[in-house]
Amino acid sequence: MKLIIEKDYKGISKRAAKEILKIINNKENSILGLATGSSPIGLYEELIKLNKENVVDFSKVTTINLDEYIGISSNHPQSYRYFMNNTLFNHINIDKKNTYVPNGNAEDMKVECIGYDKNIRDLGGIDVQLLGIGGNGHIAFNEPDEELILGTHVTGLTESTIKANSRFFDSVDEVPKNAITMGLGEIMKAKSIILIASGEGKAEAIAKLFSGKITTKSPATLLAVHNDVTVIIDEQAASLLNK
Ligand code: GLP
Repeated sequence: MKLIIEKDYKGISKRAAKEILKIINNKENSILGLATGSSPIGLYEELIKLNKENVVDFSKVTTINLDEYIGISSNHPQSYRYFMNNTLFNHINIDKKNTYVPNGNAEDMKVECIGYDKNIRDLGGIDVQLLGIGGNGHIAFNEPDEELILGTHVTGLTESTIKANSRFFDSVDEVPKNAITMGLGEIMKAKSIILIASGEGKAEAIAKLFSGKITTKSPATLLAVHNDVTVIIDEQAASLLNK
């Protein structure tokens, strides 16, 4: 894993945007795996700026998002579809038909999960998967557990994730308890991976990621066996490394 330590969040956003730019400029019909949460917001702002300056063209790009809540509509301001439209897609020259977010309101979730993975395969696989990381080491909504599921699946959220994500809702009771998420198998099949993390709250999960061990109790640690992972973090998120 390549580790890049930037001074702060702005540094992470600029650096990650540069990495994504390289990929799109190398292959105009790139397949980008995208993430939600607060970590990528600055990076998305950078991409919007670069698009407006004509430095990057999204007209042939396809995006595939990691996850979505179950039980809130796609118009809910906290749904990941709404977040992606609002934070990125509405501001760049991407064709929305080429943006995929799992449907958390599908009539048959099993069919939705199988179809989501098939679509990734049919598109030829993900060129670069962007990831944030939960304080407990979760990626997408793959929570710490005895076993991790490879394909897209429905999962319950842990108490700690519900609590962490409650900052975006009016109250903790409004946070959905379930989600649909890409599994570790699909994530690990991405040709390259960029993980971004900022702040002290991520320091422990980052330290585990570089501990030289893998464990399903901190799902991000599995990334250590992928051969093209770039981890871009700030000094605070790096504060427990080598200790
Ligand atoms: C959520 C998302 C993850 C994200 C994580 C960290 O639960 N499902 O994809 O990486 O939280 O979020 P943040 O970037 O806001 O810290």
